[in-house]
This record gives sequence, C-alpha cells and structure tokens, in this order.
Amino acid sequence: QTVGNDPGRVACAELSSWVNAMWLPAKCAAAGRGVWASRLCVLRRSGSNTAAFMPEAAGFGGVSGRAALQDFSLSDGDSFWAAAARHRLSWSRPFRTVRDCDLSRGRIKWFEDGELNVSVNCLDRHVHTCPERVALIWERDERGSEVRYTYRELLEMTCRVGNLLRRRGVKKGDCVTIYMPTCPLAVASMLACARIGAAHNVVFAGFSAEALAERIRDAQSSTVITVNQGVRGGKVTELKKTVDAAVQSCPTVQQVFVAMRTEKPVTMTARDVAMEEEMLKEDVVCEPAAMSSEDILFLLYTSGSTGKPKGLVHTQAGYLLYAALTHRYVFSYQDGDVFGCVADIGWITGHSYTVYGPLANGATTVLFESTPVYPDPGRYWDMVERLKINQFYGAPTAIRLLLRYGDQWVNKYDRSSLKTLGSVGEPINTEAWEWYHRVVGEGRCPVVDTWWQTETGGICIAPKPSEPDAEIVPGMAMRPFFGIKPVLMDAEGKVLTTNNTSGALCMAQPWPGMARTIHNDHQRFIETYFRPYPGYFFTGDGAYRSKEGYYQITGRLDDVINVSGHRIGTAEIEDVVNQCPAVAESAVIGYSHSIKGEAVYAFVVLKKDVNVPEAELSKELKSIVSEKIAKYASPDLIQFVKRLPKTRSGKIMRRVLRKVVESDLDSLGDLSTLDDPTAVQEIIQGHQELL
Ligand code: PRX
Repeated sequence: QTVGNDPGRVACAELSSWVNAMWLPAKCAAAGRGVWASRLCVLRRSGSNTAAFMPEAAGFGGVSGRAALQDFSLSDGDSFWAAAARHRLSWSRPFRTVRDCDLSRGRIKWFEDGELNVSVNCLDRHVHTCPERVALIWERDERGSEVRYTYRELLEMTCRVGNLLRRRGVKKGDCVTIYMPTCPLAVASMLACARIGAAHNVVFAGFSAEALAERIRDAQSSTVITVNQGVRGGKVTELKKTVDAAVQSCPTVQQVFVAMRTEKPVTMTARDVAMEEEMLKEDVVCEPAAMSSEDILFLLYTSGSTGKPKGLVHTQAGYLLYAALTHRYVFSYQDGDVFGCVADIGWITGHSYTVYGPLANGATTVLFESTPVYPDPGRYWDMVERLKINQFYGAPTAIRLLLRYGDQWVNKYDRSSLKTLGSVGEPINTEAWEWYHRVVGEGRCPVVDTWWQTETGGICIAPKPSEPDAEIVPGMAMRPFFGIKPVLMDAEGKVLTTNNTSGALCMAQPWPGMARTIHNDHQRFIETYFRPYPGYFFTGDGAYRSKEGYYQITGRLDDVINVSGHRIGTAEIEDVVNQCPAVAESAVIGYSHSIKGEAVYAFVVLKKDVNVPEAELSKELKSIVSEKIAKYASPDLIQFVKRLPKTRSGKIMRRVLRKVVESDLDSLGDLSTLDDPTAVQEIIQGHQELL
C-alpha cells in the first residue's frame, strides 16, 4: 500500500497490515492438500482470529475516519476496493485487475482474473480457526425449539449436499432452483451450489406453482431442491405438491431433492430423491471449485415495471465482499455477535444478511422460520432474549403491526443484548421508527434505516457507518456507504447539485456488489438501469436530499409497488386479472396502507355479458392472484368500473387513478387529453361507494 498523508490511506494501510496474514505466501502447500489447505494453514499459523480479518478498524469508526475513507473510496476506488478484497476474502488465485466497468454499456466486472470459492470463504476458514463457533441458530416455527449448528457442522452438511449434487450430475455453470423455507438445509444447499460452482436460484416459498415454474423455466434448472412441507405461523404448506405442479410445465427438470421438514410422508415419483437419506451416503469433505470472480453465484428474480420478473445475476467475489463489508459496518457487527435478520432467504435481504454477509464475517446468524405474531406478538422479543441477539434487522411492516399490539409484548422480554436495530425494504414512517427506537431499543440502540435493492446486492445508503456521535434522523437512510456515490436527477436528466432537493436516485460509480446482468436478457438490463440516465445506474426510486446532504427515499418512480416490503409490478397483477374470462381489462395501482405500507387496488372492467355478482367476482379475482403469483400480491380493494380513463391514443392514465384513490381530487391535473372525461366522474363515485 502506498501510504501518504491522506488519513484514508493510512486507515486502509492499517487494515492491510492486520490482515496481511491472509496474503503470506502459501508455505503449507507441501501439506499436499492443494491451495485451499495451504491458505488455511497460513491462517492458522498466523494465529489470526477467525473471520474478523481486521479489528474494528481504527479509521472506519474514528472521527476523521469515515469521511476520509468515504473520500478515499470515491477518489481512488481501485485502491480502496483492492485493499478491502485482499483483507476480507481468501483467494485461491490473487486478482490483478480491480475493475473493468463501463456504466454506459452495462459492463461491470470486478477482480475478474482472481479466483476463489465463496463457500470456503463462508465456512472453511472459520472451521480452521474456531470449528465449534455457532454458525446458524435455526429459530424454528415452534417457539423454544431452536437448533444450533456450528461452523464445522454447517461445513459438513454443505459438503454432503455438494457431493450429492455432483454425484447426481450437477456441474459447474448449472443453475439449481431452491424452493425451501428458511432452514439450515436451505443455507447448506446455497453454499453447496457455491462450493461446486453451480448457481442457485432461490424462489420464495410463498410463491405459487405458476410463479415457481416461470422462474425454473427461465433459469433452465434441471435440479430443484425442496421440502415435503413448510411450517410457518403454525400452518402447514404443501411445498412438495407445489413443486410437483410447477415441474409439470418445466421440461428441463430431471430431479427434485426432497428434504423432510415434517414427519408427513409425501408421494415420491421417479424424479424425486430423498435428500437426507442420500446425504448420509456422502463424504463430509467436498473439494471446492475454483471460481473466477465473475462466474455466477446466483440468480434472484424480482419484479420490474413491465414484463416478466427478471432474474438478476450476482457474481462471486464482488458480491461477497460487499455483503461482508456492509454487514460489518452498517450494523457495527463485532466478532462473536449474534446477528438476527428475520428476512426470508427467498429475498435478497435473506441472501446478503442472513447468509452471505454474516457467514463471510464468521458471525452467528439466526434463521427465522416463523412470523412476528406467532404464537403471539412477543415472538421477536422472546427470540431476542432467548438467543441473545445483538443486531436485529427487520421490515417496517412488521414494526407497524407490532406497535399496535402495545408495549407490553416487548417489555415482557429482556432486550439488553440488543446493540443495533435495522430496518429494510420500504420507508419506515416516523411513528414506527420512534417506537422501534424508544420501546424496542430502549432509546439506546441506533436504528439504521437501510436503503438498497435486489439489484444493488447490499446496503447502499444507511445512517452507519458514521462518526461516533453523528446524528441519526428518523426515517432517513441518510449516508452513502463507502464507494457509493448517489446523485439526484431532474426531469431533464441533469444532475441536481444543490441540497434540499428531490429527484431520481442514480449512482454515479459502480460498486462490487451490484448486479451484473439480467439472466438471458442483457439488453433489458441496459434499458432498465443504464439507458434512462446514460453513464449512471438508475435505481427506479426517487429521493430527497436534505439541507445537510442526507438522503431520504421517497418511493418508486415506476409501476412497481411495495406491499409489506415485497416488490411487485402492477403489470404482473394486471396480467393475471386479465386472464379471468369475465374481465375485459384492468388497471392496478398501489395505495397507502397503514400496516403494509402499500396495498394493491385493482380497477376492473368486466365483459358486457357478465352477470355474476361483483362480490363473488371480487373474491374470485383475489384468490386467482394468490394462486398465480403469491398471497401478498392479491388486491385488497377491487373496484368494478365501466371504463378506464384513457388518453386518445389508448394509454391508461394511472396518474388519475392514483389521485382518485388518494382522494386528492384537486390535483387530478389536465384531463383534456382524456378520450372520455366522464369516465373519471364514474370512477370517483364508484370509489366513494367502495369505501
Ligand atoms: O423502493 C425501494 C424499496 O424497496 C425496493 C427494492 O426492493 P427489493 O429489490 O425487493 O429489495 C428489498 C430489500 C433490500 C427499492 O427500490 N426500499 C428498500 N429499502 C428501502 C426502500 N424504500 C425506502 N426505504 C428503505 N430503507
């Protein structure tokens, strides 16, 4: 490292010296176990303390540290990220090139000529230093029946799954679909894919057979991993049956591994493999594949404003580095902490902050299988007391729900272990923020409102890291993470340079955690994220920058809505509603909801000859959406209308619909371009009747 007078550089050099052990020449190669073993030998010989890789770095938390490091990460990103990648990750082949990015062409490559294995980084290196440290605490749906897995046990489980997948023909470059609840075997399956070089495609276990099938087909998976049944909130879901239905329309699927979450036997077909039985036959050592940094680690489908869900692609080293670094610094994670992220592994939050970030840092991470109100609204806080959780990371929708049940459900439990509280997925309103801070955190735990997306791989804007006594403003994500350079754009596509202003939120520089492409559709990737503001990554969100320069997310700028923190495109719902034989056309919008944040409102035009009562149709449409997509996408309100407000060229004027639903009739705006202005009056009247 070149160490000048710049404090940022000095801080990075300090990091460098602490972790240099990782980079000592591999003298243990003679041990005959190849490059992985030799790296691990180096780690052990150096006496370094498990996965910390650096102490709570002087510089990162210090007064001048954050600002200087932020400065350094932006002005000399190559040196910053190179230092971080060397310190934080174990490589089987060092990288020479740090980045090769061109945002205008959607080209993003980091550490491309380096090689590593993500599962080795998440498991083996911790096993060699502290094998009996707890890696996972599985907080099962049945309260009080948690199960702990050490790093050694998780590595063994991962190796068995890796060997099983290999023996059954899964190769480097294949994509395995995982349709499982949040449980240790799901984590081991993700890591096993990473170990043998296959990509994983985790599909949220609340998705319907059709939604699952669509994702399996797009990912071209030949292997699916599932469980016989899921258990959540005391209710059993027939996951294997859903997979059976899904694979009917997935010609690529050759095998389905079925693990047993409950005792209930399920019908097995010739395609199905009893997972645990087969795992028992496998060895607990599995040679990790050497992966290039830019090989695919996983696909994760998410909704866009148009078309089908897109399979965002994340790759190996950059993603892992970014997840690990943000996990440590945004939550002030310290070695030995118990990290409790309650997101499902089917979402990006589960990927980055239940699995990859914490495990890369050698943390004890909690796998939460239940719901915030099962068996009662004290569930989270009982868990915090029992598992001694230090950082709790959840969604505003759950906080809003719990605050309605009253403080007694929180106060019943000892929360003295808590150090940081996190919020993710949607805006957190001031009332929920204050309650989270004052009641849950007893006014002593910083609340970090973290803004990010499936596309960004990890947290991009959050109150921390910050100077030790820096203020945290309720409901504001506030500060960009190291290497993140947010900009706001005006309607003409110009960068807004002043503070106290709002605009479209873009990123001016690439960072290692960002998605690399959309599976099978790089053109859509470019069009969606890089075309709207050439040279910038467009997030799809709007944001406000305060006088002080802090960021606050104001919501989506496109036709994506956020229901209880789950993203869904209005076009996807319309597509399903329009398939109903009674429906001529529909328009779906989001409206503000006190618990869910946003809820789904559907305007539906029926075909002329339909005589079914509206209440019946409404029920049917809701259940069709649940069946075809997922429960959370189902409309809360359905209004049947004679016609939709359209322009003369036939475009639905959603702006007008939104204003009607918001009861903001004074801002309906210019209606002169409407094909038939009487449509609006009818809609206003119908809306009032519906309420
Ligand atoms: O609109 C933003 C909202 O969630 C979107 C990303 O959704 P998804 O890819 O499913 O990832 C969710 C978990 C990271 C964003 O475009 N969003 C996420 N975090 C926040 C947020 N809105 C406001 N405040 C946040 N902290």
